[in-house]
Amino acid sequence: MKKIILRILLAIIIIIAVLVIFILSTWNKKYDVALPDFKASTDSSVIERGKYLVYGPSHCATCHIPMDKYNDVEKGLQIPLSGGWELDIPPGIFRAPNITPDIETGIGKYTDGQLARALRHSVKHDNSVLFPFMPYQDLTDEDLIAIISFLRSQPPVKNKVKTSQLSFLGKALSAFGLLKPENPKKIPQKSIKIDSTVEYGKYIANTVANCYGCHTERNIKTGEFVGKPFAGGFRMIEEARGFSFITPNLTPDKETGVIANWNQKAFIERFRQGPIYEFSPMPWGAFSRLNEIDLKALYRYFQSIEPVKNKIEKTVFRNGEKMPE
Ligand code: HEC
Ligand code: HEC
Repeated sequence: MKKIILRILLAIIIIIAVLVIFILSTWNKKYDVALPDFKASTDSSVIERGKYLVYGPSHCATCHIPMDKYNDVEKGLQIPLSGGWELDIPPGIFRAPNITPDIETGIGKYTDGQLARALRHSVKHDNSVLFPFMPYQDLTDEDLIAIISFLRSQPPVKNKVKTSQLSFLGKALSAFGLLKPENPKKIPQKSIKIDSTVEYGKYIANTVANCYGCHTERNIKTGEFVGKPFAGGFRMIEEARGFSFITPNLTPDKETGVIANWNQKAFIERFRQGPIYEFSPMPWGAFSRLNEIDLKALYRYFQSIEPVKNKIEKTVFRNGEKMPE
């Protein structure tokens, strides 16, 4: 009996050792993904569109800034995108790099194609994979060019940001191909008509502003989507900041959807108001600067989607408060 147990133990140890060796020797993968053939423009209307996206709906500015500038960005100041935001989660410590055109510490040395590829395919300038914080794969060519054109137009700011560090779990995700480059769901459109229609609202909610990524339930460890679109229930555990959140249901289900009974005016006013909860991970400041067209389009889109009954009893939890199972 003792012998059998010892053998089983030995087998388990060998399996673990092989797995660890496999993970440690294969996680650091390089991906040879073609660089999109996009050129930044110096046209002022293109740059203006890029700036609107970066500080507004695409909310790049809520991450690519020093941590202590978050409240300034939320208030609407146009803080330089010199990077530094940090998030310590089970797959690793992630830091948003400096994306001003500084040659040494920013994006000055990267080509337009490298910048476009980071957003469209989630591949870093050095061909390694980026952790999926930036689900902008389906941006239209025009909006992607507008964003990189704006990035190029900023004054360079010197600010060295340490690179991100995957934990053992993050390395395992990479080794087993769960963390990999992303692709657009279909061939991205060249451009889209900017209008307060359901179609444009769908584009903002799913691609530009990523309402989808937070308001759909996901597995916290792998990031995999497990819930119905926009039905809420995604847990954002942010104990370091003192609060954790469960996102509300945005579908038009009369009983359980938070906005199901709001009219367009109430919806727009809620967005103009900014955050109610301190440290809400939703980029309310950036979204409070959305223009009327975008907000009306979003309102119409959320009215049009499939209602899902999913009661989220409570969305905000102080540290120590028990979250439902
Ligand atoms: C939720 C936070 C967040 C948002 C929003 C965000 N980023 Fe990032 N970004 C990051 C992090 C974190 C990294 C580094 C990820 C890693 O190291 O795996 C990164 C990496 C990058 C890189 C890669 C640079 C390189 O080394 O190749 C570029 C370019 C970039 N972001 C631009 C943008 C732009 C433009 C936007 C808006 C359209 C944006 N980001 C929005 C967090 C964010
Ligand atoms: C980074 C994650 C994140 C993103 C992106 C995000 N949300 Fe949220 N949202 C939350 C969280 C967490 C809450 C609950 C805390 C709060 O109310 O601030 C919330 C709350 C809400 C509420 C309820 C507000 C209230 O006062 O009852 C609405 C409406 C909403 N989000 C709509 C949207 C829309 C529309 C988008 C896209 C334009 C979006 N959210 C993008 C995380 C996010």
